[in-house]
Order: sequence, then C-alpha cells, then structure tokens
Amino acid sequence: MNFFILTIFPELFDSFWEHGIIYRAIKSHIINPTIINIRDFAEGRHKAVDDRPFGGGCGMVMKPESLAAAIKKVKKQAPETKTVFLSPQGRILNQQMAAELSICDSLLMICGRYEGIDDRIYQEYVDFEVSIGDYVITGGELAAMVVIDAVTRQIPGTLGNADSAGQDSFSDALLKHAQFTRPREFEGQNVPEVLLSGNHQAIEKWRVETALIRTFLKRPDLLAQKQLSASEIFILKKWCLELEKITKNQSLCCSDPLPGC
Ligand code: ADE
Repeated sequence: MNFFILTIFPELFDSFWEHGIIYRAIKSHIINPTIINIRDFAEGRHKAVDDRPFGGGCGMVMKPESLAAAIKKVKKQAPETKTVFLSPQGRILNQQMAAELSICDSLLMICGRYEGIDDRIYQEYVDFEVSIGDYVITGGELAAMVVIDAVTRQIPGTLGNADSAGQDSFSDALLKHAQFTRPREFEGQNVPEVLLSGNHQAIEKWRVETALIRTFLKRPDLLAQKQLSASEIFILKKWCLELEKITKNQSLCCSDPLPGC
C-alpha cells in the first residue's frame, strides 16, 4: 500500500519509519511511504504555507494553493489514491475503519497545522476526515502515524503470525485476553495453571473467558453492542448464576440501609 503524507514537518516521521513492525513492512514492500513537504509547493519569497483567516480571529490557516498543488501531483502519480484529512472533526478511528482503509491501494494523508486548512481543500479533495479521538493535538502528523500504524497491522503479511491481527483487541468487539510470559512466578503471583497445561482446547476456552471478563470490567459498552455467540452467552449466564449464588448467601447486616431507602 502506498502512503503519501503531506506535512510541513517531514522529519517528525523519520524515527517512525525506522522501528518495529512499520520498519519491517517497509523493508518487505508491504507499505511504501512517501513524505511530501507542503512547503516545496509554496510560492513567493517566503514560501508561506499559512495566512490570516478571513473574517478575523486568532491563529493562522493553511493556504489552499500549496496543498492543492501537492495533492494534484500525488493524484497524477496514483490516480486511485484516496485522500484522508487528519482532523479532530473527523470520524473517530476504530479497528473497523482501520480494516476498511487497509484495502485501499493508496492513501494520501493531509496533516494540518495551525487552526486548520482552507475549507475549499476539504470540500474539493478530501475523501475521509479522520480523528484519533475527542481531543486536539498540535498537528495531524501524530494522528497520521496512528492511522498508518493501525492500518498497516491489518494488511496481510505485516504481522509475523498470520492470526495476530485477528487476535488484537477490538477485532471481535472484545478486548484481548490476558497474557503472561516467563518467569512462571513473579512477585508472588503465578501464571494461571491452564496456560502451562499444553491443553489447547482448555487454553482457548480460558482465553475467551478472560477476554469476556476484561471487556465486561473495562469496556461494558463494547459488550453491550456486540453480537454474542452462543458460547459467550453461556459463559456470561454461568457468571450470573455464580453471582446470584454469592449474593443470595449473604445475609443483610442489620445496620445496612435497605436498597432504595
Ligand atoms: N489534529 C488535531 N487534533 C486531531 C485529532 N484528534 N485527530 C486527528 N487529527 C488531529
């Protein structure tokens, strides 16, 4: 997949390309990033890429001419490219969106700075406006790295183990199961016995169960939205019965107020 990144700070990406999974994906030609410095398309003696907003107000706005020229150059080279604008006003990135973007052959990412980009660029050229969350960061570069990372993990062949992306948190609307590595005992805590048993069926069952517990405890909203399988419903009902047993066997302390009083 080709990533074209439009930025006024190309150096911010240097170490991003040089480590871990992203580095390997580039070396094995799974992704091919091209950084484009917007300033190279700016005109005039000062090569300005920003200007004051019409109508007044604070801050500066990214000028349309240099952005349009850079976008047109990429589109000429890769006409099928889809254009992503990183902005806090966009749709919030999630695992499903990353999977959808991962089937594109080419993505052009516009990293905004200052108070934003001239709206005519947004209207004319942007296919997807993507946010990485409901907060504002100083520019689109970090957001672009987040999107590129999440998308790249979804491209087949990127991760060592073919199943790894499928086991990521959110891939099945559940958080990932608990994980342990050596040593078997750490600060008085042991690795769950089942993981040492070599019984793959029991291990899988334990993993499904811990994924459900974690999702219930940390992100009950995900569980409420998920289409549960029969075995997941079975596990949840089993807990309900266990909890009911525990609460039924508790006698109320006479000083406790009655519920609702
Ligand atoms: N630029 C500034 N804030 C952003 C956000 N939350 N997501 C994407 N791009 C941004």
